[in-house]
Formats: sequence, C-alpha cells, structure tokens
Amino acid sequence: MFSDREVKVSDTIETILKETRVFPPPEGFSKAAWQGDSASYQKLWSSSQEDPIGFWQTAAENIHWFQKWQKVLQWDEPFSKWFVGARTNAAYNCLDRHLEKHGDKTALLFEGEDGKVDTWTYRRLHSEVCRLSNVIEKDLKLKAGDTATIYLPLMPEAIVAMLACARVGVVHSVIFAGFAAHAIRDRVLDAESKVIFTTDIGYRRGQILELKQTVDAAVTETPCVKSVVVLRRRDTTKLGPKDLDWKDLLSRQTPEHTAQPFDAEQPLFYLYTSGTTGKPKGIVHTTGGYLVGTATTAKWVFDLKPDDIYWCTADIGWITGHSYVVYGLLANAATCLIYEGNLMYPDAGRIWEIIDKHKATILYTAPTAIRSFMRAGDAVPAKYSLKSLRLLGTVGEPINPEAWMWYHTQIGKGRCPIVDTWWQTETGAILISALPGVTSLKPGSATRPFPGIKADIVDEKGNSCGPNEGGYLVIRHPWPSMLRTIHKDPNRFKETYWNKFKGLYFTGDGAHKDQDGYFWIKGRVDDVINVSGHRLGTMEIESALVSHPSVAEAAVVGRPDELKGQSIVAFVTPRDGSDLKDLQKKLKDHVVQEIGSIARPDEIKFTKTLPKTRSGKIMRRLLKDLAAGKEITGDTTTLENPGLVEFIQ
Ligand code: PRX
Repeated sequence: MFSDREVKVSDTIETILKETRVFPPPEGFSKAAWQGDSASYQKLWSSSQEDPIGFWQTAAENIHWFQKWQKVLQWDEPFSKWFVGARTNAAYNCLDRHLEKHGDKTALLFEGEDGKVDTWTYRRLHSEVCRLSNVIEKDLKLKAGDTATIYLPLMPEAIVAMLACARVGVVHSVIFAGFAAHAIRDRVLDAESKVIFTTDIGYRRGQILELKQTVDAAVTETPCVKSVVVLRRRDTTKLGPKDLDWKDLLSRQTPEHTAQPFDAEQPLFYLYTSGTTGKPKGIVHTTGGYLVGTATTAKWVFDLKPDDIYWCTADIGWITGHSYVVYGLLANAATCLIYEGNLMYPDAGRIWEIIDKHKATILYTAPTAIRSFMRAGDAVPAKYSLKSLRLLGTVGEPINPEAWMWYHTQIGKGRCPIVDTWWQTETGAILISALPGVTSLKPGSATRPFPGIKADIVDEKGNSCGPNEGGYLVIRHPWPSMLRTIHKDPNRFKETYWNKFKGLYFTGDGAHKDQDGYFWIKGRVDDVINVSGHRLGTMEIESALVSHPSVAEAAVVGRPDELKGQSIVAFVTPRDGSDLKDLQKKLKDHVVQEIGSIARPDEIKFTKTLPKTRSGKIMRRLLKDLAAGKEITGDTTTLENPGLVEFIQ
C-alpha cells in the first residue's frame, strides 16, 4: 500500500538541513518560563518516558473533576479509555471554575475584518453559553450524546456554540465554514446531527459570504436535521421553516445553567478530516483526556502567563482551532484574540497591525501564512513595532528554514523563541514541540516529543531507525488526547492507524531523528496532501472530479509549491466525445462546488489514459514526478502501458 510512497532519507536531509545554527532559549525567557530549568526538565522528561501514565496523572490534577478516576488508562489495543470512572465537564473547566478569580478577565478579544472589536469577559462568555445550553436542552430538546453541527466562521458565537454543546453533553461537529453544500451534507449525515448552528453571512476579503444559502442547500438532503439555529447578522435575512432565530431564542432563556458532570469518556466532538479514501472520517475525541492533553500542552508549549494576549490564526473549523483557540486556552483562563477575516486584508500589514493594536504576546500560525508575509517584503512588518510579541509558534506543515529565519528575525526580532509544533487532528494535542524555555531550536525541526509522549521513527518492519535514517513517524504509547475511534467505523480506525505496525500508532508522516534526538518531519507518506496547511485527501478530490459527466478517470497528486507547501495537480482522462473547451476551468469550479475552494486544483492535465500497474493501480509516484517536472525515475516495468502518459492538452 505504501510502496509508491517511500520515504527517501536523502531528500529529507537535502531539503531541510540548510540552516545549521542552533538557537538556545533566551536567558530572560528561561528564567520566567514554566519550564525553564534545563536540568530539572530533562529529569522530568526522562521519567515521563519511563512512566507516561504517571506523567499524565499528575497533569490531570490541573483539571476540575466532579469525581476522580479509578484508573488512569485502560488500554485494549487499539481502544483506550483515560481517567476511567472520572466525571468532568469541558465547559465548566473552560468557564465556571474561572469566574471567581477571572470573571472580569477578557476571554475573547474579537476583531472583525472591518476593524470593529468586541470584548468578551469570562463572565459574559459564561452567560451566553448558559443561555444557549438552556436553548439546547429546553427548546431544541437535545440530550447528552446527540450531535449538533456548527457551521460558523471564527466569531465568538462559534465558541459559544461549542461550549454550550459541551456543557450539555451534546457532541459537536464543527464544519469549516468554507466547505460547500455537498461536503456539509456528507458530514451532517454521517454525524446524524439534529441541529445546525449557523449564521446568515460571513466576511472575507471585503466580500460577503452567503453561509446560510450553503446550509440551506445542504439541508434539503439531510432529513436528520430538525432545526437550524441562525445567527442573523443582516436584518433582511429571511428564515425558512426549519430555521430558528439565535438571538430570539437566547433572549428568552436565563443565563443560569448548572453544568452536569459527564463521564471522562463522553464524546466531546467529531471532527471530519481527510484520509486516504474518498470519504472524510469523523475523528472522535472524548472529554477528560482531551482536556488534560490540550490544557497541559497549551500551558507549557506557549508558556502561558496570566497577562498573555494569545493569538492563534487558525479557524475553529480545524483541530488547531478546537484545541488551541478554544479548549486548551480557555481551560487555562487565557485571553484569546480571534479575528474573522483575511490576514492580508485590506493590505499585507493587517496581521501586524492587529498584533500592535491588541499588544498580542504570542502568535501561532501556519508556515504557508509566514511564507505569504515573507513574500510581501520585509518593509511591511518593519512599519510596525511588534514589541509586545514574546513567543512565536507554527503548525500544520513543515516549515522551511528560510521561512523560520524570516519569522525569527523580522517578526520575533531575534528575541522570541519559535515553537514548531507537530500534531494532527487525530492526536488532539501537540505531541512534538520545543518548550520555549528549555529547548534549543534548530530551524525546520519540531524538536522533541512532549513529556509523556513516546514518539519514534521506524522502518518498514517497525524497527527503530538509527540517527538520520528516514522512516515512519509512530507513537509507541497511548496518550490522553488521542482519538478514540472513527465515528461509526472502528475497522477503518484499526486499519488506518494500528495495522501497519503492531502496537504502534502510525501517523502517516515520514520523518527522521537526528543525532540529538530532534525530529524532522518530512510530510505525509500516504495519499493525503497538505495544501497551505490544510489536509486534503487526493481520493476525495478524485471522487469530486469523476462525479463530473465529462470525466472518465482522474488521479490527483501533490506538487511541491514554494508558497503553499503543496499544490493540487489533477490528471484527468475525459470521456470520449467530451468538449474540451473550457473544461479545465469547469472542472476546477466543479471541485469547488463539491468540496469547497480549498480543494480547487491548481492545474488539470488531460491524458489519454492514466498510467497503471498490471494489477490496475494508478502509478501515483510516476504522476507525482511528472507533476513536479522531474524525470521519470524508478521501476516502470510493471506499467501496463510503460512510459506512456499521453497528454491531450
Ligand atoms: O503531515 C503532518 C502535518 O499535518 C498533518 C496533520 O494535519 P491535520 O490533522 O490537518 O492537523 C494540522 C494541525 C495540527 C500531519 O500528519 N503537520 C502538522 N504539524 C506539522 C506538520 N508537518 C510538519 N511540521 C509540523 N509542525
């Protein structure tokens, strides 16, 4: 299955090791950091490797439990239960327990693309969450274990909806508000959502996004949905028969609501992500372990202090938004800046302007974004002070050393450590990252596993690789925020993550470890591509393409892209007699229509046939090389039509 996706260690080293300097933590930073004493941290880290359960048990003391556990981990490979028998409530952890000390502290600092700011204290957020919890229970009549979909842009109400669901035990399924109607439909049907929380419009690059129209189109094919709760931002928006007005519902409920204790293993959310088949998978995260994992990593990796103004630019539609905008941060009573809009609108300086305006201290963003800022030129950030910043982070894709150095010098002015955090939707929380007070940084390396995480690189047989030897990134021991299963598909869960190597969690990433134990992540070794830090399944895009009447066959591959990490190239065999005029554009639009604009192919090449092995498997490696403009290498003797990729256009 992975034979055409071999990890070539030579590539890894060549592409990454351009910057060989090592950056130790600044002394002042270490002195004040939660983890700043290198010797004691090393001791803690080593003992956490010996006894990960003990480490996580101690970490769990920072979470509020209505009832403590009888057992920390129950492991029936590959199914885990963490904090067995414990009872907790995620919303209580993020809100109620902070009210006494931090009721007036800002929880959310929201800025719209138009520059308007709305400040939400912990008390205000709590009141709104309580009102919506009452709505969910009393008006919508949902019960613990039911599912609700949230299709909202990054705005405070999206977080209100997540926390209200969590408070009453309703599993939320947030769908990124850029997905198209069909993608919403599939996810809603799979989750069997009874309610959708949405809004009429969103704002992006000065344009209005008609979000409700997209939901309306999806809902015609989702009989499980009984009501759509619409936050109206435009007075003229009309409500349909299933629609309920958000503000109206909330105004009729009180801001009092008692959070109920739920089992630690109560599902908290499903988050759909792309895999190697055409069907996105609903990753299941549960409550107790997820909170322990996200709260602990947020505090240590971002070295969170009470006065920090923390800004993560991810949307709540992705795992980064779930873990490091909402749960991990609010569980620590942090102040989070959220921004609904484009980071380079109305001009390339917007992101830096926001940082100065709100005196943000921590910035967490994706390498693609950093590369775009870099392209805009050094003069742009130079116009801003940026002196409030003390820590920088990246996530979602490998960061090339050039971008790392730019981030370090132009944005961090050489004084801010950079935490390059490796993790996945499935891992729930950061698993590999520097800790800013103790880890010396190497540009391009996510550095070392978090305490309590046993990460390794193995070869095809599952044996540990030696230093600088390329292989597969695996995790050797369960961790609290790990996915529990794939919704409604435990077999796929086993096959995808646990069947390749007995007893090891397979991440799908290729990587190597250097002589100092630093991890260098190369990227996916399966049919998943990473475009601008967004994870897309090539098969998902292929399914969208073949659903077009003019397409007989399609194969999609990723091509290295200086800006986006990877771009999408589709090889398409049109049906006989198809009109090729404008077909490329039509097919690109069709993919946008089916999935959303994040999946728009950058290039479509028409071929007479697709190169296949004699057993009928598309030779993707060959297509990948072709897309990248490389010479065709490797063994093509198994090709049914050797050497033959005939282009029509
Ligand atoms: O390939 C890795 C890449 O993103 C994948 C996970 O994607 P997703 O589930 O969408 O979650 C993204 C945000 C956590 C991984 O399998 N990836 C993530 N972080 C890094 C990374 N690759 C290299 N370096 C990282 N820091």
